[in-house]
Formats: sequence, structure tokens, C-alpha cells
Amino acid sequence: MANQDDLFKNIISHSKEYGFIFPSSEIYDGLSAVYDYGQYGAELKKNIREYWWKAMVQLNENIVGIDAAIFMHPTTWKASGHVDAFSDPLIDNKDSKKRYRADVLIEDAMTKFEDKINKEVEKAAKRFGETFDAAMYRTTNPRVMEYQKKIDDTNARFKTALENNDMDGLKQIIVDLEVVCPVSGSRNWTEVRQFNLMFSTQLGSVAEDSNTIYLRPETAQGIFVNFLNVQKTGRMKIPFGIAQTGKAFRNEIVARQFIFRMREFEQMEMQFFIRPGTENEWYEKWKATRMNWHKALGIPESKYRFHDHLKLAHYAKAACDIEFEFPFGFKELEGIHSRSDFDLKQHEQFSGKKLQYFDPELNESYVPFVIETSIGLDRMFLATMSYAYKEEKLEDGSERVVLNLPPFLAPIKAAILPLVNKDGLPEKAEEIINILKFEHIITSEEKDSIGKRYRRQDAIGTPYCITVDHQTLTDNTVTIRERDTMKQERVAIDQLSKIIGEKVSMNNVLRKL
Ligand code: GAP
Repeated sequence: MANQDDLFKNIISHSKEYGFIFPSSEIYDGLSAVYDYGQYGAELKKNIREYWWKAMVQLNENIVGIDAAIFMHPTTWKASGHVDAFSDPLIDNKDSKKRYRADVLIEDAMTKFEDKINKEVEKAAKRFGETFDAAMYRTTNPRVMEYQKKIDDTNARFKTALENNDMDGLKQIIVDLEVVCPVSGSRNWTEVRQFNLMFSTQLGSVAEDSNTIYLRPETAQGIFVNFLNVQKTGRMKIPFGIAQTGKAFRNEIVARQFIFRMREFEQMEMQFFIRPGTENEWYEKWKATRMNWHKALGIPESKYRFHDHLKLAHYAKAACDIEFEFPFGFKELEGIHSRSDFDLKQHEQFSGKKLQYFDPELNESYVPFVIETSIGLDRMFLATMSYAYKEEKLEDGSERVVLNLPPFLAPIKAAILPLVNKDGLPEKAEEIINILKFEHIITSEEKDSIGKRYRRQDAIGTPYCITVDHQTLTDNTVTIRERDTMKQERVAIDQLSKIIGEKVSMNNVLRKL
């Protein structure tokens, strides 16, 4: 079995080898932190997007979806705070000339202390056997307590430095933790500086300052500026939500971990407009609702956890992440933010237009508060893929790589495999495809042994393989093989639509929400 580092490398190479994800413009050696989705990746991504969209827009009468432009009036980003505050603290190592995010260096250093604690606890558990009380050990063992104190002290300093935008404070933590550059191994650091993450470009042909526009760094602002358009034309009553999926762009400094942190990525965001004073209740409700959406996928609950933000973004009153256990540890998958009336008020001020709602029950107008749910589609793709990817040893001693994707997300729902490429079997396979293709994405494969074809379909997560043999020609039955159990069954062709339909139904999953 691969260790976690190898596992992640295997997932990346599997994604490329099987047509899920390619480096962007690979024939020119790629573009850093930009990726293209291949034939299966595009399907999986589309299915995840559809699951999100249906859960938001179709299941909730009071949530509607929009599709705003990527380019927005540049004042949008002054109002939203992104021009002044959407930046990362950067630090360079003078020897390697490598640039790092100061906050990431500190977080990584703290993770190392946590790893040390876990190792101590593991060792002690082995030594003391069944009677071992891990919780007690953590609070009494002097070495563990020392590491924990270091983490707690650093966390407190880190929080204060972030809150006060204290770049010198961040640098001092890096110095005190004796963080070394992973490339040069030295502690020869520059000062910490802020670096804005927005990409800018020019509108029109004249390169004047006034024509500078930005590629949106989040889709949310397209929702805020359309708040009144949607509320009025849709006769929306508070509480109501506006959902949107689409591309966002950030000039990430530390772009690594494959599609986890990209420079061009897709977000699925929903802004829920509420009466001021009800924000705590709705914040808790959306936390629970979003966690249920994840759990309904059938991925074990232990893979998810909530994490409250240490540093609140410039717009947030309260914020947490849903973290997922990726092969490189628990990391942010989705954010849930209580944004108060910050954005709408800012847009009122900068545009000079009123962005208020008349509440007929209260008989008064106000600027609504907002709870936001925001998830990266690419990150959700990576979470799904990381969970689904399995290297299995089979009973007969052979091995297979299988993607245990939730069937409704699988790119291909069934593969039709004629046993031999003659005797009218390919034609029979074609007939079956022509029945099933109106409901599902179906493929056929004629080359190689059936065993090899099964393996290829397992590797792209196809829930069913359907083999057409000579018996099919006489009695219209086929063998259907299920991906996870590898069990095979003989069924009539006219049963296929029902069997596959039930297995891959998105509605069955949506009903759990
Ligand atoms: N509108 C709020 C907002 O954009 P965020 O926490 O900055 O909040 C939301 O981003 C989500 O977008 C994250 O939880 C993550 O899933 C995804 N995301 C952010 N930056 C990303 C990047 N560089 N690459 C891939 N996904 C990213």
C-alpha cells in the first residue's frame, strides 16, 4: 500500500493517465497552477456542479441561480475591499530566492509540532497497550505538554499578528520557530510584505489607468451587485438566496498540491439574504445544511470536520471552514461566512444606489445581512477523487485500481463490452447503447480481453460493465458486473435501464438532504 505522499502522487498521475486532468498547455511544458479537465474529468466536474446546483436551486424555492460576468466594473473591487485587503503576507528566502506565504510557513511549523505530539502518543500507546489513556497522556506527559504549549503560544501570537496586520510580528514568529527554507535549508529571510492576489488587465485598446479591470477573485460580488435586480424581478422575499457557479482567478503565490490551489478555478457560491439579527441562527443552519450535502455522498463522516477561522476575512463577522482529509491532511474545502451587511453597504456607498429591501412584515426597509456558502468546485473534485481512488489487492492475488466514485457522479455510467469483436456482437452492443444513451453517458469497448476492459472501466469509476456474448443473440440477456463488488449477474436487456437508473440516480441522493 502506498503511503500518503505516494498516494497523492498516484492520484495525480492516475488523473492524467485516465483523462481526468491534464496540465494546461502541456505541449509548452504547462502553466504553473493551471489545469485542463479531460474527457472524464469534465463529466465528473459537471456532475458535482449539477449536484450542488440542484441541492441549492432546485430543492429550495427561495434560492435562485444567476450567471454573472467575470469582468466587473473596477469600482466593485474597491467597494468589496479586494483592492486594499485581498493580499497574502509574503516572505523570500535570500539564499534560494524562493518566495513563501508567511502564514503557511507558520502553519506548517505548527503542524510539525502536532505531528511530534501524535508520534509521542502513538509510541506510548504501543508501550502501555490496552490500558493506555491517550487523553490523560496528552495532558500529563511533560514532552507533549511542552509541544502543546509551543503550539498554543504560537497560535495566540499568530492570531494577534494577523488581526493587526503586523508583518514584523509574523516575521518574528518565523524567526522564533527557527523555520528553515525547504530548498536552501537556511534561515536567511527577507521582511514580510503584503502582495495583492488579483489579476488585472486592460479594457479596450488604450492602456490607461482608468481602463484597468480585474479578473474576479470570487464570484460572490456578481451576486451582490445583482441583489436588487434579482429581488425585484423575481419578487423574492427575505430570507432568500442567490446561487452562482463560475470561474475565479487568484495570483496565488504558493500554488501547489495539484488542483487544491490553482490560479484559475471554479467556485460554487450562494449568498443568503436575511433579516439583521437572525444571522446566528442562519449561520448554524447553513453549516448543518452544507455538511449534510457532503455526507449524502456516502463519504465517511470522519473525513470531514469544521474549523473556525482564526483570522476573519475583511468582510466576515464569523466564519468557518468545512475541512476534508486530503492525502496531505485536513484542509479547507468549503467556507461558510457570516458577512453581515458589509458588502451591500459598501456597494451602496460606492455606487450611490440604495440596495435595500422593504420588509412588509416589519413595515420597514433595511440592508439585509448575508450568510455565504462558498466551495471550490476543483477542490471538491480533488476531495471526491482522493476518497474514491483505491489500490486494491484481490483474492486471486492480482491488483486493481478502482475509483469508488458515488455512482451518480461517475463520468460514464455503463460500458457495453462485446465479448468478441465479431459474430454480430458489436452490432448488438450498439443496439443496447442506442437504448441507454438517452438517459446516461454510456461507452463501449471492443479491444483487449474482458478482464483488461473491466480494469480500465474500474480505473475511471464506471459503476457497471455489461458484457454482450453469444447467448445475448439468442435470449436477449447480458452479464452485468458491478464495479465495487465485482459481482456478475445475468439479466434481460430490457432490465438494464431500470437497474442502471436506480444505481446512478442523483435524485435518490438529493432526497436524503
Ligand atoms: N466568496 C468567499 C470566498 O471566495 P474563499 O475562502 O476565499 O472565500 C472559497 O474561497 C472556496 O474557494 C475555498 O473554500 C476553496 O474551496 C475555493 N478556493 C479558494 N481559492 C482557491 C484556489 N486558489 N484554488 C482552488 N480553489 C480555491
